[in-house]
Amino acid sequence: MRIGTGSTKSNGPSTWSRHSLKYYMSNNIVVGILKKICLSILIILGLYWVIITIRTEVLVDDRGYTLDSVSRDTGSDVDSDGDKGKGYGIMSPCRPVGLSDDPLPITALSSSPGSGNTWTRFLIQQLTGIATGSVYKASWMKQAGYPGEGLTNGSVVVVKTHMLPYKKFQFDKAVLILRNVKSAMIAEQKRRHYWSFNRGSREMFKDEDWERFTMIYGDDWLNHNTEWIQISEPLYIVLYDNLMNDLKSELRKLAQYLGFTADESLLDCIHNHKNSLKKKKNMTELYPFNKETELRLDGYLEEICQALQTRYNDFDCTPLYAF
Ligand SMILES: *[C@@H]1O[C@H](CO)[C@@H](O)[C@H](O)[C@H]1NC(C)=O
Ligand SMILES: *[C@@H]1O[C@H](CO)[C@@H](O)[C@H](O)[C@H]1NC(C)=O
Repeated sequence: MRIGTGSTKSNGPSTWSRHSLKYYMSNNIVVGILKKICLSILIILGLYWVIITIRTEVLVDDRGYTLDSVSRDTGSDVDSDGDKGKGYGIMSPCRPVGLSDDPLPITALSSSPGSGNTWTRFLIQQLTGIATGSVYKASWMKQAGYPGEGLTNGSVVVVKTHMLPYKKFQFDKAVLILRNVKSAMIAEQKRRHYWSFNRGSREMFKDEDWERFTMIYGDDWLNHNTEWIQISEPLYIVLYDNLMNDLKSELRKLAQYLGFTADESLLDCIHNHKNSLKKKKNMTELYPFNKETELRLDGYLEEICQALQTRYNDFDCTPLYAF
């Protein structure tokens, strides 16, 4: 009796749960619930995407190009890059890219965020066939066509940095990409909002965050570029607008500075594959700067132009002023 009751009590629940588990499994109820959860998550993500897409305006500059289509550039000194390497199509359209067998001089590829650093890395990789490195380690960049991501040694042709020249890393030489502070700031703000509800909407240029950002970014831009222009030796300047407007001759000069020569067919190929330049409909104008900010930023452009002309006598600042 006692044994019987005991065995019933101890067997009962376990038999029940064993059977019921089998029952649930065999009827795919557990699997069904999991599927429903997954489906719900997908639907929520999908709705979010739809809302963001509907809210997205096509923000273009006065040349009819989307403002950051060429340079979805990267973060700050605590970088983890926001650029997913999208929009560049196949990352090696003209030649394969690999680490250098012979050690190269360690060359900085310096810029303020939003100045086209990632795009320039793509161009340099195609120009030289050598991978570009970075003082940051954005691991997915390796898969996105930048096999030298995270390297800062002689195996890479240039090393991306948004840091000041005397910070932490030593370079033998440097390339500084200079882009108009307003255009770069807009590109960077759009990158910062890549995952935000305001992505692609002009709301991201209206709130307090934008006001604060114009202050912080502007000062950083001035500081970063002043330091590199004054301190770095030797230094080569790439003006973003020159790259945009006269890619082949800019790449020819850049190749020479990096110790490479580029033949015409290669330059033609790269030119034909600067495919991140997508022309969009000219729907809206965007100039999200009030008078006060404009004056301040124009002053910064003036200061950088003076620093450039102090260092290089007859430096033409016109492309830097172009917005
Ligand atoms: C875009 O539109 C603005 C005015 O709405 C105009 O000034 C500008 O020239 C246009 N740009 C292009 C490339 O059509
Ligand atoms: C650079 O670092 C990578 C990874 O640690 C290494 O494989 C490579 O040999 C290094 N190159 C040089 C020139 O030291």
